Amino acid sequence: MTELQITPVTDAGNEAQHAALLRLLTLLRTREYDFLAPTPASHARILARPDRQAGTTVADLLGWSIPCAPAEIPADIIVTLDAAGLLDRRPDGMVKAGVRVSALFGCLFAHSPYPTSAQDSVFLGPDSYRFADYISRTIAGLPQPARILDYGAGAGVGGIVAASLHGNATLTIADINPKALALAAVNATAAGIDHHTVQASSIAEVDGSFDLIVTHPPFMIDPGRRAYRDGGDLYGGRLSLDWTLAAIQKLAPGGRFVMHTGVSIVGGRDVLRDALREAMPAIGFSHDYRLLDPDIYGDELDTPAYSQVDCLAAIGLCVVRE
Ligand SMILES: C[S@@+](CC[C@H](N)C(=O)[O-])C[C@H]1O[C@@H](n2cnc3c(N)ncnc32)[C@H](O)[C@@H]1O
Repeated sequence: MTELQITPVTDAGNEAQHAALLRLLTLLRTREYDFLAPTPASHARILARPDRQAGTTVADLLGWSIPCAPAEIPADIIVTLDAAGLLDRRPDGMVKAGVRVSALFGCLFAHSPYPTSAQDSVFLGPDSYRFADYISRTIAGLPQPARILDYGAGAGVGGIVAASLHGNATLTIADINPKALALAAVNATAAGIDHHTVQASSIAEVDGSFDLIVTHPPFMIDPGRRAYRDGGDLYGGRLSLDWTLAAIQKLAPGGRFVMHTGVSIVGGRDVLRDALREAMPAIGFSHDYRLLDPDIYGDELDTPAYSQVDCLAAIGLCVVRE
């Protein structure tokens, strides 16, 4: 077992696994667990170090995805992972966890272990932190209570951070990936957020209108077509454009759409910014588009898929329905 096997909360028979995962997050909160997943490239560098082949701490097991001797890890953590079916007991006596946990903005998030190579891996990384931070700077003044949608929620970082900072919200968690919905539901319960999940492959499939829609779409050019990475054409910007145009139609009057995404800079031009300029409705909405980081995932520029791209930048887009 290298990946967690977890299915939606609505599936019969998974209550025990979800309860065990919830217990794990509670145990970690009591222990003031602190780990935030780095980029896959940084993670690989750390795991290549000769002294990081066997772990000794809870963060080694549940953050770095390093095999550990069970005697080094508190027994309640081992028992709870086992109860969740997320403990891989290896022939050499070491154990590996089938889940990773990251801490952000005072909440704990279960997500996929490293490496996230499976098609249905549940993403969380430095982008999620940047996304949550951008949300924290854009949500003042929402109505009480607020209806929040996190579209393409993954482990639920955006919606859960927004709802917990706001303090009086109902959260709709939507994703194409049932494994993401299962983990996001556990994470939302652990954070005490009133929520429900929707499996959807387009925003039109989500019912209702919202005071806040947050999203962090896939934005990479990904020849592997992984759902959490592949942003489509426009050098990976297609989903960012399409989700923006679809989501703003779901905003209640005065509602806000907050997106974190990555954009390709090609020939000195921001491909997404140019496409949005053409496609955004001329009336009824105002928006703020800003650079959050001018240079992310520089290692991707070595790959053939990025041969025409000068760099990848992180941007924040906030659209308000007037
Ligand atoms: C880059 S990840 C972001 C996850 C999370 N929002 C975060 O910031 O940590 C993109 C997410 O979009 C989801 N996704 C991809 N295509 C989708 C689609 N057509 N409809 C809904 N969700 C989709 C993926 O499963 C993945 O969870």
